[in-house]
Amino acid sequence: MIPEKWEPVFGKDHAQTKRTGTGMTNHDWLISRLPKCELHIHIEGSLEPELMFALARRNGIRLPYESVEALRRAYQFTRLQDFLDIYYQGMSVLITEQDFHDLAFAYLTRAQADNVHHVEMFFDPQGHTARGVSFTTVVDGLTAAIEKARAELGISASLIMCFLRHLDEADAERTLDSALAHRAKIMGVGLDSSELGHPPAKFTRVFARARDAGFSLFAHAGEEGPPGYVWEAIDVLGVDRVDHGHRSLEDDTLVARLARDRMALTVCPLSNLRLRVVDDLTHHPLRRMMQRDLLVTVNSDDPAYFGGYVNDNFRAVRQSLGLERDEIIALARNSFVASMMPEPDKQEAIAAFDRAIASLHRS
Ligand code: HPA
Ligand code: ZN
Repeated sequence: MIPEKWEPVFGKDHAQTKRTGTGMTNHDWLISRLPKCELHIHIEGSLEPELMFALARRNGIRLPYESVEALRRAYQFTRLQDFLDIYYQGMSVLITEQDFHDLAFAYLTRAQADNVHHVEMFFDPQGHTARGVSFTTVVDGLTAAIEKARAELGISASLIMCFLRHLDEADAERTLDSALAHRAKIMGVGLDSSELGHPPAKFTRVFARARDAGFSLFAHAGEEGPPGYVWEAIDVLGVDRVDHGHRSLEDDTLVARLARDRMALTVCPLSNLRLRVVDDLTHHPLRRMMQRDLLVTVNSDDPAYFGGYVNDNFRAVRQSLGLERDEIIALARNSFVASMMPEPDKQEAIAAFDRAIASLHRS
């Protein structure tokens, strides 16, 4: 179901796109107003330090940082594992259904402010069940927030349950067993956590079972791992979309295959910068990926840790790569094309997007 607030998207101040001196560049105004989907967001990675401290207080948990500022200062990463260590520590304040609700509702409220119309949200159940929090507590809290956000904010969202790839397949199998009792609340399964040394093929059987149960399939691949991991994600796991995937550019045959199949890739520029996947955003591969006809989208990954929500990511690459207006529009449109909305809703959303762009061009 497409939220009712869908049209019009640009409102009365169309003309602002043509003005200067507003304090915001024309391109940044466009980014702020473009409707979009967010397809790569780990909900636990949206836990802002302020909420982390509030939940710690509510649950009687002591954090190993004396203040919000001290915690933010610890967010210095040189690779994925540095981040993951802090990320798993941070999520330890999430205990009750209310905590998961508050986390997700805060993110959805923030996403709506960026003109996000639809979200496909990762969560890491094993990061919670290993601490004694039940699968039901996690899923019911997140689902309550999604339902409230649909009713009150007009934003739609669905859940993707990720397996932690540093754990073994048997642990993922048990997690899938738990998910089957909540089948209707979960749209897909994904694969995240420490990539190197944990290739997608390690999870062949559990992904086959998930496919048989009707879940859509996703995997992080080619973030730190080699192009071979992307091949495994598409050929062995049979994923519907690849998360990150920029190292695919090292393999021309793989690029041709991804382009031919219109396989979507969810790119997260500020994450890539903060995890030193790229040394500088001016070297970010996003534009090269577009030039090679890949279906790429822009996303925030873990916005509380990487310094920005989805529009911050758009603005950062717009500025660093000098993206043109048509490229920005194409990226936002791709997010609808790459989404897993039911097909009629997706077609309706794309048509509404195109009408909005046409009206912008006429104004
Ligand atoms: N990569 C892999 N695993 C993750 C990430 C990421 O960026 N964020 C949360 N889990
Ligand atoms: Zn991710």
